[in-house]
Amino acid sequence: MSLFLKPEHILQGGYFNATLRKLQEPNTSIEPHNIMYPVFLLEEEDAIQAVTSMPNVYRYGINRLIPALEELVRKGLKSILIFGIVTALPKGPEGKSADSPENPVVKALPKIRAAFPDLLIACDVCLCPYTSHGHCGVLTDSGAIDHAASVKRIAEVALAYAKAGAHVVAPSDMMDNRIKAIKDALVANRLENQVSVLSYSCKFASSMYGPFRDTMKSSPMEGDRKCYQLPPGSAHLAARAAARDVAEGADFLMVKPGLPYLDIVRQTKDQFPHHPLFIYQVSGEYAMLSRSNDSGELETTLMEVLKCMRRAGADCIITYFAPLVLSIISKN
Ligand code: PBG
Ligand code: ZN
Repeated sequence: MSLFLKPEHILQGGYFNATLRKLQEPNTSIEPHNIMYPVFLLEEEDAIQAVTSMPNVYRYGINRLIPALEELVRKGLKSILIFGIVTALPKGPEGKSADSPENPVVKALPKIRAAFPDLLIACDVCLCPYTSHGHCGVLTDSGAIDHAASVKRIAEVALAYAKAGAHVVAPSDMMDNRIKAIKDALVANRLENQVSVLSYSCKFASSMYGPFRDTMKSSPMEGDRKCYQLPPGSAHLAARAAARDVAEGADFLMVKPGLPYLDIVRQTKDQFPHHPLFIYQVSGEYAMLSRSNDSGELETTLMEVLKCMRRAGADCIITYFAPLVLSIISKN
């Protein structure tokens, strides 16, 4: 029998042992620097609110966020992505509260920097949490995106977070040419070597953002985001968007959502192997995976998903599971 088995067809001889298996899975390990934790920041400094659609996710005022982060930083947390939420500050057509001195992110950044000198702090940059209409840009009278006005505002907001202490600004608005506008603003303020730009370069008009929009109260009042977020079937637009953002100076690229878009992750990594690539495992993915907890399999399923994201080409995964991941990997 074995006479017919060619030696080069015997694969099992190469992965019968756990150490051998690790060698067979290059660049797929999950270490703390491969994980970024999104946090929701409230205006009310002592508040803490559970997010009903996302088990174990909370919105924090700064005085509650710092102790929560202390525990995670002790466990190895290396980076966070901050989202501001306002209810008391006014929402208007241009999202002025996004970068006002009263904005919760602007106020919290110096405190987080002081409390955690080694933590990398990224800030989501968008207008939707702050606009009365809930869109990610400024609108014209007829309700279309006002491109010039939108890009100007996005760059102003990014600069405000940069000045307040963000290490990374991450525009999620999907307006054309905002990366160049942000880089120009950083250069004009001599911050270009102290702040990096993480572009949500390949962000799709997904229906998996639902729990997030509930949390942020940032759904559009009218219409949808299909005129700026990418059509889910278009690998071609994703390639052009990544190329455009690289040309405009993006330091890091992103694919969002994650799991159904791993072909885009591989495409983007092959297209730009020299740019670190992020995946956003979005709120809908979090909600779906959380349900696999029923069978006690969440931890193994989650680590498999993250490993496959790494295999597809992701360098860092933005995930609401960060606390769980840190506790899993600190056990190993
Ligand atoms: C808004 C923004 C969204 C997410 C991050 N920034 C929602 C959207 O674009 O509608 C989604 C995050 C998630 O679902 O976890 N610019
Ligand atoms: Zn937005």
